[in-house]
Amino acid sequence: MKIRKVVFPVGGLGTRFHPITRAIPKEMLGIIDKPLIHYAFEEAIAGGIEQFIFVTRQGKNSIEDYFDGMLLDYEGKSGAPKCSFCYVRQSEPRGLGHAVLCAKNLINNEPFAVMCADDFIYHPKSCIGEMIKHYDGANMAAVMTVPREDVSKYGILDIESEQGNIVKAKSVDEKPSIEAAKSNLAIVGRYVLSADIFEVLEKLKPGVKGEIQLTDALLEMIPSVGLVGFKFEGLRFDCGSKMGLLAAILHMANEDKSLSAVMDRFCRTHNTYK
Ligand code: G1P
Repeated sequence: MKIRKVVFPVGGLGTRFHPITRAIPKEMLGIIDKPLIHYAFEEAIAGGIEQFIFVTRQGKNSIEDYFDGMLLDYEGKSGAPKCSFCYVRQSEPRGLGHAVLCAKNLINNEPFAVMCADDFIYHPKSCIGEMIKHYDGANMAAVMTVPREDVSKYGILDIESEQGNIVKAKSVDEKPSIEAAKSNLAIVGRYVLSADIFEVLEKLKPGVKGEIQLTDALLEMIPSVGLVGFKFEGLRFDCGSKMGLLAAILHMANEDKSLSAVMDRFCRTHNTYK
């Protein structure tokens, strides 16, 4: 099924990166020479997405400026991506589900993708593109196995069955306790969703942390639409955390021939200090 639109929820406060995120949106933090949102954009383009809907807020204007500038760079060049950009405001950060709901009027009635730029996925192919290829009408979320002690950071699937890289869920729980978690298969920030989700989100009561949780809407839709997890290939870095962002930077530096020598030198020097 063709998926044309992606929602980028970029309205979060990024408090884990204070003080830098007082002045720079979290999504504009860099991995070497490109901001996180650029990597998400490239993944979406490679997955066939044409329309980009940013759910943004006060203080995030540099994202709009960045993509204006990027399109100017592309102008007139062959191979330039065919894409359009829309920006909608989320006046207060009320959760991922609420951010997605803000995009309702720009989606109309077609399935769409959601990508959280702070989940950086280094993948030989486009993770969202692979998900779109497998999408068959059931809501889909990218999933990965996480250590048991980390389940409370994620939406966790209760598995009904598995076939290849597709996991059918019988339930899903947002940030369960270690004791309550039904598995250690966690959702990461890539989704392909039915537009029916808006009706559910509109009626949803606040959940964990008093926020409108996308996971709660996915749970409510299991009887009608279904929910599958997509086990993706590649490496995921949680760039919403300092450790994850640093790991992503080191990984990308190591992948880049012009920078890997610096990495080698650093490691050698570091070892002599040990
Ligand atoms: C959100 C979702 C959660 C998901 C996570 C992936 O949580 O609510 O289900 O597992 O993203 O990164 P957040 O990290 O915004 O608290």
